[in-house]
Amino acid sequence: MGAASEPFRLLVLPGDGIGPEVIAETLRVVRRFEGELGRTVEVSEALVGGAAIDAHGLPITDETAALALAADAVLFGAVGGEAWDRQPIALRPEAGLLRLRKDMDLFANLRPALCYPELVAASSLRPEFVEGLDILIIRELTAGVYFGEPRGVEDLGGGVSRAYDTQAYTSVEVERVVRAAFDIARGRGRRVCSVDKANVMQTGAFWRAIATRVGADYPDVELSHMYADNCAMQLMRRPKQFDVVVTDNLFGDILSDAAAMLTGSLGLLPSASLGAADSQGRRKALYEPVHGSAPDIAGRGIANPLATILSFGMCLRHSMDAPQAADRLDAAVRRALAAGARTADIATPGATVVSTTAMTDAVLRELEAV
Ligand code: IPM
Ligand code: MG
Repeated sequence: MGAASEPFRLLVLPGDGIGPEVIAETLRVVRRFEGELGRTVEVSEALVGGAAIDAHGLPITDETAALALAADAVLFGAVGGEAWDRQPIALRPEAGLLRLRKDMDLFANLRPALCYPELVAASSLRPEFVEGLDILIIRELTAGVYFGEPRGVEDLGGGVSRAYDTQAYTSVEVERVVRAAFDIARGRGRRVCSVDKANVMQTGAFWRAIATRVGADYPDVELSHMYADNCAMQLMRRPKQFDVVVTDNLFGDILSDAAAMLTGSLGLLPSASLGAADSQGRRKALYEPVHGSAPDIAGRGIANPLATILSFGMCLRHSMDAPQAADRLDAAVRRALAAGARTADIATPGATVVSTTAMTDAVLRELEAV
């Protein structure tokens, strides 16, 4: 039996805030492709984040983490909200997501920042700076200061205390994510910008040396290096100079938010977090919108489902071996935008604002045409 006829096991973790709403709409898209691809998608669902804290006292249970490890892919909504803000760090909603990243060893986090022609005016930069923008930030996701040990707070006596985290990378951790960046760059603009703080940090100089060594294996891809602070500045100054940016966990967190805002459409940006490919080319994967749980608009049916729908598009491409279906879904989203469908977050003057469900309806309708 070929892989294409085996059921695809999708674990859905809606989470908090608008997570459940955007996931519910995306599942309508999943069902559509299930029919088109002739491949059964077995969807199971579990709690994560604040929802899991309320039910089980933990942001993710061992059972749910095991389900994620056994699944072909995880589709994640969003986590967090004021109700859980006073939890200790290890018991906050975010800890559920961090555990999944670590347990599943999802070291390569792909965060495209694409400026849709219809939304050029929504960017904080002038149109000529963002028109045609197509950056892919690849963020290392399982190491660095997010997970480094030791970490803690200690009492130094005399009323003074001290908090510390550890930034640490092994050569394996750097090499595998840099290699992923080069491999992916080959399928697009063939330019990799590796971002670090080699002028200040040991881990930065180490990162740069490894990126340079790996780069020698890819003579067809242009490698440049940039300090992280300069990169933040260059993203604002001349963002179209970038093709693929590869960087560590913390810099990637910050720079991907900056890049996202350039597009004027945080509600549209998907992401994929990928592990290493096994001998059959399958990899563990988690797909999630870049936006957060937006508790202020939760439950009102007005959230933008496109980032989650496009995250499923990345799942079609990277986990379901269906790049043509992924292209069609991308095209349908563009057509829906071109036809004027706007949720409140991307509403342009004079546009008719549609609900979460109506936006999904528009995408499903356009899928007929592409
Ligand atoms: C992100 C988020 C997370 C991070 C939070 C929710 C833990 O900001 O995915 O960028 O810091 O990695
Ligand atoms: Mg972030």
